[in-house]
Amino acid sequence: MEEYKYSAKFYDRLLFPFMQPIRNRVIKVIKRYQYKTILDVCCGTGDQLKQLKVQGFDAEGIDISDAMLNIANKGKVKALCKHQDASQMHYKDAKFALVMTAFALHEKDHDTAHKIVEEMVRVTSEGGDILIVDYELSEKTSMLSKMLIYAIEWFAGGEHYRNFRTYVSKGGLPALLPTTTLKEVKRFYFAQHGVVLLLLRKETKD
Ligand SMILES: C[S@@+](CC[C@H](N)C(=O)[O-])C[C@H]1O[C@@H](n2cnc3c(N)ncnc32)[C@H](O)[C@@H]1O
Repeated sequence: MEEYKYSAKFYDRLLFPFMQPIRNRVIKVIKRYQYKTILDVCCGTGDQLKQLKVQGFDAEGIDISDAMLNIANKGKVKALCKHQDASQMHYKDAKFALVMTAFALHEKDHDTAHKIVEEMVRVTSEGGDILIVDYELSEKTSMLSKMLIYAIEWFAGGEHYRNFRTYVSKGGLPALLPTTTLKEVKRFYFAQHGVVLLLLRKETKD
């Protein structure tokens, strides 16, 4: 059964207090760097894309869940989201100035998450940026935040929860990122140090 079949309808409303500060920061970063071509990988309900559209940014997204894409294509503001597997994207190399993903990598098995990151790097232009939002659990994360994050992930259940635990045990995002092609530009923390936003730049070849 499709994972988001039932939760897609209330996903945005349920997670709004947790997500909105992060959505706002993403918009600030995009305003700061004025990217002309933006791809949101695993865009879900398209909430971030809709908020960007309201701010005057044209961006597109891909997701594998029909239930999520159905929400993305509803409402006053519609997001441009296509059905596509993030681990085998159809885009040509170096197509986008910014490629982002939020809260997708922790729920995939390690190999798939790794492939998604590789694909994100491939479709980013040289000198372009990659923005990743996901959990970072460390000694700086408050106990309350850890408990809430584990509760959310446990509620998601099954394979999702198993993948989350593997993600945490492998050390989170650093275990998925290439060390040679990407240089960190900025990072921001949310949810009492339980969530990180990483802005990375794809280095030019020469
Ligand atoms: C937790 S949701 C996050 C959605 C959105 N990025 C956000 O910030 O609200 C993870 C999303 O990743 C999508 N997803 C999972 N595996 C995928 C894949 N292989 N290709 C494309 N989308 C995928 C799911 O369908 C889901 O919509």
